[in-house]
Amino acid sequence: MKITKICCIGAGYVGGPTMAIIAQKCPQIQVTVVDLNHERIAAWNDADVNNIPIYEPGLSEIVKEARGRNLFFSTEVDQAIDEAQMVFISVNTPTKTYGKGKGMAADLKFIELCARQIAKVSKSDKIVVEKSTLPVRTAEAIKSILDNTGNGVKFQILSNPEFLAEGTAVQDLLQPDRILIGGDTAEEGQKAIQALVEVYANWVPEDKILTTNVWSSELSKLTANAFLAQRISSINAMSELCEKTGANVNEVAKAIGMDSRIGSKFLKASVGFGGSCFQKDILNLVYIAKSYGLNEVADYWEQVIIMNDHQKRRFSDTIVRKLYNTVSDKKIAFLGWAFKKDTNDTRESAAIYVADDLISENAKIAVYDPKVTRKKILADLDYLESRSAEANAAHILSFQTAYETCEGAHAIAILTEWDEFISYDWQKIYNSMQKPAFVFDGRNILDGPALEKIGFIYQAIGS
Ligand code: NAD
Ligand code: UGA
Repeated sequence: MKITKICCIGAGYVGGPTMAIIAQKCPQIQVTVVDLNHERIAAWNDADVNNIPIYEPGLSEIVKEARGRNLFFSTEVDQAIDEAQMVFISVNTPTKTYGKGKGMAADLKFIELCARQIAKVSKSDKIVVEKSTLPVRTAEAIKSILDNTGNGVKFQILSNPEFLAEGTAVQDLLQPDRILIGGDTAEEGQKAIQALVEVYANWVPEDKILTTNVWSSELSKLTANAFLAQRISSINAMSELCEKTGANVNEVAKAIGMDSRIGSKFLKASVGFGGSCFQKDILNLVYIAKSYGLNEVADYWEQVIIMNDHQKRRFSDTIVRKLYNTVSDKKIAFLGWAFKKDTNDTRESAAIYVADDLISENAKIAVYDPKVTRKKILADLDYLESRSAEANAAHILSFQTAYETCEGAHAIAILTEWDEFISYDWQKIYNSMQKPAFVFDGRNILDGPALEKIGFIYQAIGS
């Protein structure tokens, strides 16, 4: 099947950037991204392309090039599904907050709604592509819904997980390490796989396009995230041991990373990993393992989360301890709130949990993040339901600049590794702070000896 029209359900961090690149690289294909969220679609269609809802370096330029040509954002879900030969499902799959599997299993209600809608609307055969990250064997459920509630048209289900990381989404999409496509092993399934291979082959070398059966593809995505997160928890575990023994975790990471069998990436000790996916996907993996009675497998992976929670808590505990065991009414300046640099996404950011701990100790938190608004910060804290919204608002201070944020503070905590923090005038910041002036570098990005020379008490992770 030659693909000329694609529909993508879900205009989020994955659907938006992924479809923008497909549209840019395949001008012969009309790509329509649909979402139920009117505000989000309106932002994607904003005349000023700098107002698109997702900040990713390089993305607005690509949207500008393709939007209105062969890239469209719309809330007309039914029409877009009906017209397309290939429908991507790229909706959110959060951790369940109710019922069986609460706090662990993936909530598939949005996926099921999509499947039912595709079935209801489709009047011609379609290839349905799972782009969202899903528990292994979800394709089976989607297929059952499509076949039992549809209009007698034929559906092929493919799994095509996304491996982009936020902050580098455009680069990751333009030059992926691999594209993974899983499909049915029978002839029709292989034809569907080939149709999607041809889309990617417009810019990805064919030797980087890997095809497998559906279950391998679904499980590979969860496995990749588990392995990545496991490296961070492993180095963070070592960071605590480094602090006790006089070893330096940056030196240890470099020393082990030069072993080509280990590799140097994802060995940066930190205040703990955040983001919408690592925790959610590992919890989902743990739940799946448990549901098959594989308790040792479940416990093994759950430890990655336990270690990450410990690392976040350890960071806030260290701040309290070093500030003479009380932060009550002290101003603590947070540089960064996003879960990593170069994104405005704050989902599961370590900053939220560290702030929550410190507010419980009655601290005043002054936050500066180049891409995150006060409204978002308060919404993140309110979501935890630790205290009233009024109480959160009373403990969070907001300023226009980083310098004002740090003025009069007892301590600065670095929560996100934004490049601009490195080039600040740290002497000027020191002069404006309470003394002794502390810096807790949750990202190991600052020059510790230089700060100590200025007079700061500097505490990094893992040294
Ligand atoms: P997101 O929350 O940013 O976007 C999902 C969008 O889907 C929302 O805008 C929501 O309104 C829309 N939606 C939900 N149900 C809908 C429906 N029935 N019809 C139309 N629209 C609907 O989520 P995201 O970060 O883009 O993640 C999507 C999926 O991709 C998840 O499964 C996630 O695990 C996976 N993933 C995310 C990343 C990432 O970096 N964020 C990377 C790889 C994979
Ligand atoms: C991660 C994966 O890297 C992507 O491949 C995957 O597609 C995506 O999850 C997903 O499924 O959602 P993302 O969460 O966007 O991407 O960003 P990462 O670069 O992986 O960072 C995740 C967290 O780990 C961040 O808080 C980051 O600061 C932290 N991190 C990362 C470390 O603390 N140390 C490191 O060495 C690397």
